[in-house]
Amino acid sequence: MDLMEGLFTRRSVRKYDPDKTISKETLTEILKAAQYAPTAHNKQPWEFLVVDDKEVMAHLRSIQRWTSFAKDADKVVFVCGDVDQSFSRVKEDETWSFVDVDCALATQNLLLAAHAKGIGTCYCGCAPMQKVVDTLKEYLNLPKNVRPFAIVTMGYPAEVPPEPMGRYKEEKIHWGKW
Ligand SMILES: Cc1cc2nc3c(=O)[nH]c(=O)nc-3n(C[C@H](O)[C@H](O)[C@H](O)COP(=O)(O)O)c2cc1C
Repeated sequence: MDLMEGLFTRRSVRKYDPDKTISKETLTEILKAAQYAPTAHNKQPWEFLVVDDKEVMAHLRSIQRWTSFAKDADKVVFVCGDVDQSFSRVKEDETWSFVDVDCALATQNLLLAAHAKGIGTCYCGCAPMQKVVDTLKEYLNLPKNVRPFAIVTMGYPAEVPPEPMGRYKEEKIHWGKW
């Protein structure tokens, strides 16, 4: 699939074909593409947890309420950031970290690579919802330095979401001056 075509045709898919499984080989290639995203200072602070345990997938909705369809996905990928590995500063006059930004870019690569492989995904938010981050981190038994960033449901599509209307807005672009 052409990159521009992929950008314009990706949709969030929330209904999955129960008879089709994503192979480990295909998923590995998608996760490889995720790791080709740019990162601040090239720190690549991401970690990916792949789950297909139906009990875990069904439990997600009690942690993040907008994930009710996760139980029907073939796989769920938790995109996480290693806060100790990210480009960050903790000083008296400045405190910041690029960990979420880096994870967001990896997540977008993941969504697009999956789409290129004919796999549907839905990005479900985690960070920066602190309660969701804390509960998910504990539930998944993540190491202290690992912050869950996004919950991505994946599976071969059982729906073709309609093309969004009015996505492109010319007035959002400011040429030369605001
Ligand atoms: C940060 C973020 C959090 C999201 N969280 C959820 C979610 O919890 N549940 C859900 O069904 N969709 C979620 N989405 C998907 C959006 O609803 C979807 O991207 C948006 O409606 C645009 O549709 P499209 O992805 O098909 O272009 C999220 C998307 C983003 C970027």
